[in-house]
Amino acid sequence: MSHPIPFAQRERIKASLPLIRERGLEIVEQFYKRLFEELPEAHSLFANGVNKQRIKFYIMLREIVMQVDNWPYINESVKSLGRRHQTYGVEAHHYVAVGNVLIEVLSEALGEQFTKEDREAWTALYREISACMLDGYSEKAA
Ligand code: HEM
Repeated sequence: MSHPIPFAQRERIKASLPLIRERGLEIVEQFYKRLFEELPEAHSLFANGVNKQRIKFYIMLREIVMQVDNWPYINESVKSLGRRHQTYGVEAHHYVAVGNVLIEVLSEALGEQFTKEDREAWTALYREISACMLDGYSEKAA
């Protein structure tokens, strides 16, 4: 399977690993706060609240960054993540809002260190991940 994300962009993504390790939970907390401001309807999707969710999202994000070179693995695990998201009632249009919030929160956490190239790399990563997640949806969904 050829890799959908160019090597140079993957190197940039992997370079974010120390930040994710050190400040990931803080970033994820900010992410949910911002998500509910930008997408109030997300409240009803998270029927169980986000306390436990934060750590799960953080671990998955970290895993994706650590394993970004191993695309067959990412593809499979993210596809089944997508399948579960279908059951949570997450629709295709939600992925756009979530991606924008994630990139903005990362950009704010990193400040000037988050370059235009970093933004492009993360945007490419998110685009590929959400496409794989939606691949996991069964037909007629979302
Ligand atoms: C890169 C994209 C995303 C990642 C990595 C991600 C990650 C996760 C993870 C790891 C879980 C824990 C449960 C599981 O593993 O099935 C989860 C649950 C959930 N996610 Fe996502 N997610 C993403 C996109 C979205 C989007 C776009 C929405 C829509 C607002 C969303 C809403 C939810 C909801 C509602 C749950 C279930 C919470 C619960 O009932 O406990 N996620 N997500």
